[in-house]
Amino acid sequence: MEPVIDVVNLSKAFGPKVVLANVTFAVQEGESLAVMGGSGSGKTVLLRTIMGLLAPDSGHVSIEGKIIQELDRQELFEVRKKIGMCFQMAALFDSMSVAENIGFALKRHTPMTEAEIAGRVDECLTLVGLKDCQKLRPAELSGGMKRRVGFARAIALKPQILLFDEPTTGLDPVMTDVISRVILDLKHQLGVTTVTITHDLKSAFEIADRIALLFRGEIIACQPPEEFKANPDPVIQQFLRGDAEGPFLTDPAPPKRSTKSSASPLLVP
Ligand SMILES: Nc1ncnc2c1ncn2[C@@H]1O[C@H](COP(=O)(O)OP(=O)(O)OP(=O)(O)O)[C@@H](O)[C@H]1O
Ligand SMILES: [Mg+2]
Repeated sequence: MEPVIDVVNLSKAFGPKVVLANVTFAVQEGESLAVMGGSGSGKTVLLRTIMGLLAPDSGHVSIEGKIIQELDRQELFEVRKKIGMCFQMAALFDSMSVAENIGFALKRHTPMTEAEIAGRVDECLTLVGLKDCQKLRPAELSGGMKRRVGFARAIALKPQILLFDEPTTGLDPVMTDVISRVILDLKHQLGVTTVTITHDLKSAFEIADRIALLFRGEIIACQPPEEFKANPDPVIQQFLRGDAEGPFLTDPAPPKRSTKSSASPLLVP
């Protein structure tokens, strides 16, 4: 079966800094993938590239068989309508109410009437477990509520794919669990394909069918949670232990653009 998201040999550098180096993975329909990695490891860059918001230096991303780097503006816009993006820290419009935030894309991109939009806003809020907060402003919401309003906004246009960038960062453990459950509910109720960037191991193990680890620009593992947990790779084991000692924090070698790549990219000094 053709994957819904196919990331093929994606590379991206900013000046001399190589952020993604030949990243390749695929996500099947209805699957949820968690992508983990250290701070600054390129997770947001990866999501932005999948959305077509950032152009890779090489490689491509195809969404339902369409290579997004080859699409014109209109075609890219059509593909983006299939993707709901939940931004890091929710990124709501502060000057708008919750209902206006969620209804924004509906008003802009659909012929729906005000009453239909209000109905859809209520539906989306119910799906994320929030009710009766249509009139509130983002400043009046807790961190967990903001994230859920962000999710409601992302599902407003009924996307087939949901991308979550750090949905639980900055939340307490209980709210982290609530958010993980909301993500699982959305997956089950909407049948969507999801990619979730997260630092949170518990959350990743709860929501993911497969877990990928991004390390020095490469996906060094992409496997079901139990296999990931048992993976003997020292980088993965250190990440799982949350230990400061080990290869995870050693400084990477300077990027080698034209010379032959090192035999063991994980353990270069
Ligand atoms: N537009 C840009 N121009 C230059 N450098 C950038 C740009 N966007 C990202 N970077 C760099 O790319 C690297 C990866 O950034 P990215 O935001 O993807 O990290 P991340 O894994 O999402 O980190 P965090 O966990 O802190 O959110 C960082 O070193 C960042 O400074
Ligand atoms: Mg990020």
